[in-house]
Amino acid sequence: MIKTRPLSFPKKFHWGFAAAAAQIEGAAFEDNKGPSIWDVFPTIPGKVHNGDSPEVACDHYHRYKQDIALMAKLGAKNYRLSVSWPRIFPSGRGPVNPKGIDFYNRLIDTCLAKGITPWVTMFHWDLPQALEDEFGGWRDRRTVDAFATYADTIVQAFGDRVKNWITLNEIYCFIHQGYADGTKAPGHKLPAKVVNQAYHHALLAHGHGVRAVREHGGRGARVGLTDNCVPMIPVTETPGDIAASQRAFIERNVRVLDPIYRGGYTATYRKIVGKDAAKFQKDDFKLISLPTDFLGLNTYTGEFVRAGKGGKPEILAKPRSYPAADATWLAHASQAMYWCPRHVAEIYGVKSVVITENGAGYDDVPDAKGEIMDLHRRDYVRCCLRELHRAIGDGVPVDGYFLWSFMDNYEWQDGYRIRFGVVYNDYATQKRTPKLSAQWFSKVMDENRIV
Ligand code: BGC
Repeated sequence: MIKTRPLSFPKKFHWGFAAAAAQIEGAAFEDNKGPSIWDVFPTIPGKVHNGDSPEVACDHYHRYKQDIALMAKLGAKNYRLSVSWPRIFPSGRGPVNPKGIDFYNRLIDTCLAKGITPWVTMFHWDLPQALEDEFGGWRDRRTVDAFATYADTIVQAFGDRVKNWITLNEIYCFIHQGYADGTKAPGHKLPAKVVNQAYHHALLAHGHGVRAVREHGGRGARVGLTDNCVPMIPVTETPGDIAASQRAFIERNVRVLDPIYRGGYTATYRKIVGKDAAKFQKDDFKLISLPTDFLGLNTYTGEFVRAGKGGKPEILAKPRSYPAADATWLAHASQAMYWCPRHVAEIYGVKSVVITENGAGYDDVPDAKGEIMDLHRRDYVRCCLRELHRAIGDGVPVDGYFLWSFMDNYEWQDGYRIRFGVVYNDYATQKRTPKLSAQWFSKVMDENRIV
């Protein structure tokens, strides 16, 4: 009789779902919410697929009770949500909008009543448009000041019930893609010097997020950044390729992780960034490198690396036939889930990693019976979890996993074309239908093992 050995996770492992305000809430102009850069971006021709806007999205603002009930029914014990800055400060700064505070109070209380622990991201890309108009957004240090006040405000308002905070989501995406290649809001293509300065401001905002939690978070409050550093996978798991992958990892991610974990712009940063390096003030790195409690990783895909001449890392181009999701950037490189946590633990001494996002985006279609048989998503997530399980087995300190995403939602510049949810959303009726992957993941959470 052959027995299946259970691929179990540690006892206190945190399982949950992740989502973000602008992608699900809708109600973009209700209850005094100010416009965000993502309300404006889709109006620029050619920027967003089909010109899709987040104005209605999943209408979660009005349907949050049913959504949280469904989440609880699927067995989630944790939910990573984000607060919309322009709902709290319609103009980015100035007077607080009490209706914005009320909404998140209701949402947080609903989660807690259902036994779901909220993990709150302070900033998931929906910068108040007013800050872009007045200051040029993250290009200007005054946006950091506005963020500091915003962070203080929300930690003071929700910190009695929220104990897990994430400062920023994916600095690379909202800085590089927002100001260098222009594929995300606010959609600029600016010189490297300006972009590196914007990176610096984002790092400062992260520092303020940590400071705000330490000052106002109360007992048991924990805080970390969520980063989407590019995972580097050694082609062979042999010392030469592993060393090359480590070097490639540091170099590729030098703008975010190095300053936070090494307390400054290192020689590697200066070598890569050269004359375009960011300017900084005397005490900036004290704030930027404040100790955190965990590092959030959004891990979807990765690059393959081998040791070239003299051990120099060579990043390999993926051939056309390499499998990918319908979101074409998402090559199915599940070993990223082993190597990314391991690299941050080994290189930067991170003591607690939380996978704050992982998943896959497809153009799912219900079958004749109305079921969504997303075996493709279930398979990819399962492969990723096996790699994560292996990492934990090898001693990498991983403490949680959040699946992106609970339900289909506004996928930024891809509009509503790409679906990342394990719950299908019919945007015409707002009917939610759990896909096959939701039923599978529900069992994973329940049994604390890969099923
Ligand atoms: C972001 C999410 C996004 C997901 C899939 C991450 O980069 O944090 O907002 O929807 O990836 O693209």
